[in-house]
Amino acid sequence: MKAVIPAAGLGTRFLPSTKAQPKEMLPVYDKPTIQYVIEEAVASGIDDILIVTGKGKRQIEDHFDRSFELEHNLREKGKIDTLKDVKAISDLADIYYVRQKKQKGLGDAIYQARKHIGDEPFAVLLGDTITKGDIPCTKSLINIYNKYNASAIAVEAVPSEKVERYGIISGNEIEKNVYKIDRLVEKPLVDEAPSNLAIMGRYVLDSDIFDLLKDTEPGFGGEIQLTDALSNLSQIYGHIFNGSSYDIGNRFEWLKTSIEFALNDDESHDELLKYLTEICKCNH
Ligand code: G1P
Repeated sequence: MKAVIPAAGLGTRFLPSTKAQPKEMLPVYDKPTIQYVIEEAVASGIDDILIVTGKGKRQIEDHFDRSFELEHNLREKGKIDTLKDVKAISDLADIYYVRQKKQKGLGDAIYQARKHIGDEPFAVLLGDTITKGDIPCTKSLINIYNKYNASAIAVEAVPSEKVERYGIISGNEIEKNVYKIDRLVEKPLVDEAPSNLAIMGRYVLDSDIFDLLKDTEPGFGGEIQLTDALSNLSQIYGHIFNGSSYDIGNRFEWLKTSIEFALNDDESHDELLKYLTEICKCNH
């Protein structure tokens, strides 16, 4: 299976940091966001990844390319472990790029992948979400796709004040944590939302979606919404993934995720905890 990672957005929620750098390259603790996402795809058995880029996204290509100058420098300095890590990034997967020439929304970004994907089912991983679990989130969606022979998307219950930020679904729970979806609405008002189950940025989709996207009119925010096209699929399932997901689409959640990841790293845990305890005391 191939994967598509849309990375064409302007990153306006992270300005000024994203003025001259793609938001996908902002680090979460010690790695650029997009590297976590690609590692999830690879851990799910995917080795062919198409990144949909736009203007000002060259750094993404550079990050996943070889850097002979840097490698030479690290070798000279005897930094062999770092050298291995750096080389491993460019060996992660076969990565392809296509440009979305005009910002017309997530649905349009995915539509740019139609020629690369062809008639096969494919995964979509949004860079605003990082997931962690014993079975990678995308892998668990592939399992559901294979079981029901239909598209599957990851969903998660969110508190009512966050409903307006997401695509929201409703459906019947047909087995534990699997819903047969009957409605999908992009960013509804909380009073009009069909439930509090939010689409959380992972999809395994039938290639039929491309024909639907072609005919999808602009929706929420005047953009072509993937959610609107999904609601015209004949069958689609929602899965509450058994693991954690981190929505890093706004700066506070991004910061919290960096702190949590740093606390989970043995190398930084003790020092960070000491620091956090101290500043909390000072601010009390
Ligand atoms: C996109 C999708 C939305 C989904 C969200 C998850 O919205 O359109 O349905 O819930 O990602 O992060 P965006 O965050 O790009 O506005």
